[in-house]
Amino acid sequence: MRTHYCGELRSTHGRQEVTLCGWVDRCRDHGGVIFIDLRDRTGTVQVTVDPEGSPQVFRQAEQVRNETVLRISGAVRLRPEASVNPKLATGAVEVVATGLTVLNSIKGTLPFAVSVHDEEPVREELRLRHRYLDLRRQRMQRNLALRHQVMQTARRFLDEQGFLEVETPMLTRSTPEGARDYLVPSRVCGGEWFALPQSPQLFKQLLMVGGLERYYQLARCFRDEDLRADRQPEFTQLDLEMSFLSQEQILTLNEHLVARLWKTALGVEVPIPFPRLRWSEAMARYGTDCPDTRYGLELTDVSDLVAGLNFKVFSQAVARGGVVKCLAVPRGNERLSNVRIKPGGDVFAEATSAGAGGLAYIRVREQGVLDTIGAIKDSLGPEQARALLERCGAEPGTLLLFGAGEAATVNKALDRVRQFLARELQLIPANTWNFAWVVDFPLLAWNKEDQRLEALHHPFCAPHPADVHNLPQARAQAYDLVLNGLEVAGGSLRIHSATLQQQVLEVMGFSAEEARRQFGFLMDAMEMGAPPHGGIAYGLDRLVMLLAGEESIRDTIAFPKTQQARCPLTAAPGPVDARQLKELHVASTWVEPHQN
Ligand code: AMO
Repeated sequence: MRTHYCGELRSTHGRQEVTLCGWVDRCRDHGGVIFIDLRDRTGTVQVTVDPEGSPQVFRQAEQVRNETVLRISGAVRLRPEASVNPKLATGAVEVVATGLTVLNSIKGTLPFAVSVHDEEPVREELRLRHRYLDLRRQRMQRNLALRHQVMQTARRFLDEQGFLEVETPMLTRSTPEGARDYLVPSRVCGGEWFALPQSPQLFKQLLMVGGLERYYQLARCFRDEDLRADRQPEFTQLDLEMSFLSQEQILTLNEHLVARLWKTALGVEVPIPFPRLRWSEAMARYGTDCPDTRYGLELTDVSDLVAGLNFKVFSQAVARGGVVKCLAVPRGNERLSNVRIKPGGDVFAEATSAGAGGLAYIRVREQGVLDTIGAIKDSLGPEQARALLERCGAEPGTLLLFGAGEAATVNKALDRVRQFLARELQLIPANTWNFAWVVDFPLLAWNKEDQRLEALHHPFCAPHPADVHNLPQARAQAYDLVLNGLEVAGGSLRIHSATLQQQVLEVMGFSAEEARRQFGFLMDAMEMGAPPHGGIAYGLDRLVMLLAGEESIRDTIAFPKTQQARCPLTAAPGPVDARQLKELHVASTWVEPHQN
């Protein structure tokens, strides 16, 4: 079909006869000569059709439209100096067409333009409905090539390190990672269900018991959870598990993997080792376990300083076991007006949308004069004011924003305000890659709704050896990799003793029978020579999103789902035949909402 790719032609190809295949990127008629930009995956090249040299080809060229699929033959000619296009890799040459075959023509109008020259914002729903067209566009071509490169680099690196790529089942039992399962009814085993894996967690642990020592997989995972820009119901993990390595050895190996990815994809040397941040420290300083460390705006706990104030919002919060934390905004006085931080303002709204009751503030003026709502001012003596300003590192011009209440709510609200202000005040430096390991997570967290302790990661994380005698308060040997405020990977050392696994499940409220019913196979395996092991999983889509500078993982996935977990291209999910349901022994209880 073709002798060359469009994007590879250079002046060195001058006078060669070539045959190219591709799509018409655009077509221009310049006073009798037709110029076709022909595009394939490698790029575009200008094809010139001269009415005198090739009248038959010219007549055909007059009929082509954007995105017509063509095969073109002709000779490569150097462009005259004046018409060289330095912006195009093939800009020094053109192909003078002597043959043209329309391989496929376009019917109707295209829903949106493909060429970079006509690029306009296109609604995502429309892009996804015609994803095949969207994939032809430069942005998606670039993102998918990058994704491929990341996967290949990871494979090569892990192969060098002695890892084996092993596939684990898709039709399986529930693997608890904290989301709802996607279920598949079994036709053969009536009334019973498979779950699609939320991760290959249990299988990778069993592979270690199976003596595989080092496993990896580019694993498809399924989670039925609320969707966001960085979450899909179906996503891909770069999933690793290793035997006989310490936590530190696992982190080091992963730092080398990440450094290799950044070097290969972007040519960037990321400094290793990455900083390590204890979970408690991350929560204290940033209010979140995935802090963006590219800018300051750290939080300060001032509970002890304000506990005795007459200002009830503060003192009652502390008296009820809560906290008061402060976010100091340098030069905040000039940068943020009262309108923005009071009710009705955008900064205020950020705090309250995260559950905060309000957002108290103090403006530090010259000579330590404080400007704030009367109630705080009236209750703050000069000594207390001085101590407060010193603790928060406040200088004249600083705006202090306060959150008061339950620690979790205050952290959530101030984290949100912190991120919002960093964007608004343009404090985020460009081209900065701030990696950090967050370590020493709590093993368990209190689930208020269900009134029970649950695993913060999953129930298979090993507790810190020093904490095994106090499991409810234990730290886990777990670690998350955070990049610019986004969790890109998470992992842990695992429990490899059946007795300890049983104890941890018990603390989480599993009865012995329930634990056996759900995880008996794992505990049996642990009793037959499970090696100490641990691992980690990267969100591949998120890694590629960050490397590509995209805002949504949907732009790194060939065929993603919408925010409503639908595929507009294939119209999935969709109804099925009653007969199919009957075969599966399933009856639908769904009622259309308007019939309710
Ligand atoms: P975890 O649940 O933290 O750990 O998942 C690992 C990484 O997967 C990515 N991720 C997602 N990406 C896109 N859409 C989603 N819905 C989604 N959910 C998670 C995140 C996250 O850091 N089995 C453990 C790993 C282990 O312990 O080895 C696990 O799955 O980037």
